[in-house]
Amino acid sequence: MLKSLLFIFLIVHRTMIESACVPPVKYYVDCNNTRTLSQAMSLCFQYGMTLLNVSNSSSLFTDISLLNSTLTAANCYSNFWFSSGNSTGYVGSVATLGDVLAGVLGGLLGAVGQLLGSVLGGLACLLGGCSGTTTPPPITNAFTICTRQLQQRVIQKCSSESVRTDMKTFHYIEQPMFGGVLDRLISRSRSTCSAICSSDPNCVGISFDDTNSTCTLYL
Ligand SMILES: *[C@@H]1O[C@H](CO)[C@@H](O)[C@H](O)[C@H]1NC(C)=O
Ligand SMILES: *[C@@H]1O[C@H](CO)[C@@H](O)[C@H](O)[C@H]1NC(C)=O
Ligand SMILES: *[C@@H]1O[C@H](CO)[C@@H](O)[C@H](O)[C@H]1NC(C)=O
Ligand SMILES: *[C@@H]1O[C@H](CO)[C@@H](O)[C@H](O)[C@H]1NC(C)=O
Ligand SMILES: *[C@@H]1O[C@H](CO)[C@@H](O)[C@H](O)[C@H]1NC(C)=O
Repeated sequence: MLKSLLFIFLIVHRTMIESACVPPVKYYVDCNNTRTLSQAMSLCFQYGMTLLNVSNSSSLFTDISLLNSTLTAANCYSNFWFSSGNSTGYVGSVATLGDVLAGVLGGLLGAVGQLLGSVLGGLACLLGGCSGTTTPPPITNAFTICTRQLQQRVIQKCSSESVRTDMKTFHYIEQPMFGGVLDRLISRSRSTCSAICSSDPNCVGISFDDTNSTCTLYL
């Protein structure tokens, strides 16, 4: 009896720890700062990611749905930049995701040259939803969404419940994970590498290459 209770306790405890460790999703979202299109693209590039690209593909519906839940969870309701097909500089928001989807499926987005480098005050206009007399002012700044690469063999940083509430501790789980590259540096060991990650709130995981002591921190 005691043994089975202990077993149940261990299962529940393990589940609690694991549920506290949600892997990063495909999209890195910065809704704290607005940027120009080129600043947003540079930010993604700097961390080994690419600006959000919503194009016709077999994952289009799941991508839109994931964007919807990611942005809603982050309370991010304003405009963000994205690319489609060969063009970039489109602006969308949670409220216009349905229009974005319709625009991609209908072939209205992504043609070469179309709206290249220009901006659009909501896709509803493109789809005939706004009157010809009121042209919305061009958008010059918007939030940044970058697509993280799927990284193999990353050791994800997970918070652990700690007896001391004033001290945050972490444990690490190895698995493929979406991540941008926050930094690459030389460190003495894997544990030094994870200590650097633990002290950086932006770090979501590490990988350590013993052959050249390279510590990679993920974003
Ligand atoms: C945005 O600000 C919030 C609250 O200060 C913070 O938790 C979050 O990490 C910030 N996000 C980015 C991408 O900087
Ligand atoms: C967006 O993705 C599509 C399909 O993967 C690709 O062909 C296109 O070049 C990308 N567009 C940009 C602007 O990076
Ligand atoms: C986004 O999610 C909301 C709430 O779940 C839903 O009502 C809406 O239809 C979704 N939008 C799209 C484009 O899927
Ligand atoms: C989008 O892709 C589907 C199949 O992948 C295709 O049937 C459809 O014609 C494509 N739409 C556009 C606008 O390219
Ligand atoms: C993107 O450009 C390539 C090469 O110029 C072209 O073959 C392709 O059809 C273009 N894609 C779209 C969606 O316009």
